[in-house]
Amino acid sequence: MSVYQDTHRRSIEDPEGFWREQAWLVDWIRPPRTVLDRAGAPIYRWFPDGTLNTCHNAVDRHVWAGRGNQVAVIHDSPVTGSKRTLTYAELLAEVSAFAGGLRDLGVTRGDRVVIYMAMVPEAVIAMLACARIGAVHSVVFGGFAAPELAARIDDARPTAVVASSCGIEPARVVPYKEILDDALELASHVPTVCVIVQRPQGVAQLVPDRDIAWTDVVEAGRSRPAACVEVAATDPLYILYTSGTTGRPKGIVRDNGGHAVAMAWSMRNVYDIGPGQVWWAASDIGWVVGHSYIVYAPLLVGATTVLYEGKPVGTPDAGAFWRVVAEHGVQGLFTAPTAIRAIKREDPEGGLTTTYDLASLRTLFLAGERLDPETYAWAGRVLGVPVVDNWWQTETGWPIAANLRGLDPMPTKPGSPSVPVPGFDVRVLGADGAPAPAGVEGAICLRLPLPPGSMTTVWEDDQRFISTYLSGFEGHYLSGDSGYLDEDGYLHVMGRTDDVINVSGHRLSTGVMEAALARHPAVAECAVIGVRDELTGQRPRGFVVLKSGVRSPAAEIEAELVALVRSEIGPVAALRSVTVVDGLPKTRSGKILRKTMREIADGMAPPVPATIEDVAVLDRIRPQLGG
Ligand code: COA
Ligand code: AMP
Repeated sequence: MSVYQDTHRRSIEDPEGFWREQAWLVDWIRPPRTVLDRAGAPIYRWFPDGTLNTCHNAVDRHVWAGRGNQVAVIHDSPVTGSKRTLTYAELLAEVSAFAGGLRDLGVTRGDRVVIYMAMVPEAVIAMLACARIGAVHSVVFGGFAAPELAARIDDARPTAVVASSCGIEPARVVPYKEILDDALELASHVPTVCVIVQRPQGVAQLVPDRDIAWTDVVEAGRSRPAACVEVAATDPLYILYTSGTTGRPKGIVRDNGGHAVAMAWSMRNVYDIGPGQVWWAASDIGWVVGHSYIVYAPLLVGATTVLYEGKPVGTPDAGAFWRVVAEHGVQGLFTAPTAIRAIKREDPEGGLTTTYDLASLRTLFLAGERLDPETYAWAGRVLGVPVVDNWWQTETGWPIAANLRGLDPMPTKPGSPSVPVPGFDVRVLGADGAPAPAGVEGAICLRLPLPPGSMTTVWEDDQRFISTYLSGFEGHYLSGDSGYLDEDGYLHVMGRTDDVINVSGHRLSTGVMEAALARHPAVAECAVIGVRDELTGQRPRGFVVLKSGVRSPAAEIEAELVALVRSEIGPVAALRSVTVVDGLPKTRSGKILRKTMREIADGMAPPVPATIEDVAVLDRIRPQLGG
């Protein structure tokens, strides 16, 4: 039996024994006696009687161990032309000061703090400062517009909001503070205070008695820096909202203890990164990849993490990633396949890789969307290092399937993220709940309990956690992805089974876009589908039927609808194409045939569903779908 097989088997047959051993990857204040609390099944709790502090584990302990002078964070920002490094000792000083300032503003253990920020060191400092005082952070991606930010503020009800005055996109400055002001107008919840990081590219107007400058908070905190607060392993560390099938975003809750253990374990065993090594996850702190692998995991193991404020192309060119790797000696790089496709499109032969010395790079990890075999092959060819696909979700927080580079590297197969990671009992189930034979596609499920580090609930809504994820097949977590296990035990992930689409590695809900379109006074009904796109994986397209009597030209309404989605959801929604049609194909019971529409748009020739209400409607829309 291979090391991998033995480790995986132990983790599934004896999860308590397995994770009891791994618990020592982190420092505890009160070590856990109980490893797993099964009493509340199907909701499980890891290390229920342990206490610790995540910030201590990510920062303080490395300084205590004598590594204060090692670089913890490298901020590399081609969009502002600046670079800054923070050693572990400097990070500790900044985090303790900001945490002290936050505490003096009245933020205490269990309070929520919404963070709406660009990729700047202050964002990482704010996250760690929350962890330090036991506050629960909720980072909102900068590409979301005011109504989405407001929805998250109303759900999390933060005591404080921390925002940067602006974000910098290659073609424009995004006025985050103005968006925050708009969001607070829309929200019913009123935070006590907003802390603003002023950036010279777009200094914001502060609202008296509500807003305070970051520098003032840090200055006040320097004289009374905050110590680490003891929290229960099961206390929430953060809430991260993700798209679901309904319009309401789901607040995925992550705990402190299980999360710290899982992060430390995965950084070493999946990504093969340890103390002192340089690691770069080219994502955004607004996504789970950013939470897990820009901030927590690399710092928990004492590595150096790169925080990159730029794009794979255009900042300034398709050699940007290779420049960062060479300049900082990056050993492991993690990004989304879209980023590699964007680079390949501009530099098809990969010539720019030879401009830089990439000798430090050992592995390229790709995740966030399906890795197409062509991108996989191209990246391997031009970089000459293993390309490792890994499959996971906001909900799990770390890879469910991967090639375990630090534990037992194994051959890779194009089109597969390799094997189930220890801790995850992956089952592919048919509609009847029976296991699908090897090679047969079904719903990818995880047998409970989920390992440490996975979501513990939906924020303040255990019932929603159970009904959304744990009720489809008894005793299992439903991933929402379909796929199959092959004869060698390799998992193949084929796509979502719900209306979630994946655009540039960003997870978006077509349901949310439909809700925005439906709010336009001229729209009678609508459908948004995700069609295949060479660069971004998928791309949303909207189809609307207008109310009778609407006289405005179709092109005018289409443009208004594109603008509407952008202002309601944000630029990240990227709905750039809306088409007015005279009918949407439906079943006799009134369900819009989105899957058939998507398949036609993707150039397939799906059979006409037997349940269709009117074939003529489908035939009329075919040319507009482009199939
Ligand atoms: N704040 C504000 N706006 C943002 C933003 C942020 N943090 N991030 C993106 N946007 C905006 C962009 O400016 C763009 O706006 P536009 O419509 O005015 O051009 C829109 O949101 C879409 O952004 P993006 O998906 O980044 O598209 P792009 O065309 O700017 O770039 C790629 C295309 C491929 C370069 C880009 O998608 C990319 O880097 N992908 C990597 C994927 C990734 O890191 N995924 C994270 C999960 S691992
Ligand atoms: P997110 O929660 O934003 O990380 O998105 C998770 C979803 O992205 C998964 O449910 C998959 O649909 C998709 N996804 C992520 N990684 C992969 C991968 N390696 N292969 C295929 N799909 C992936």
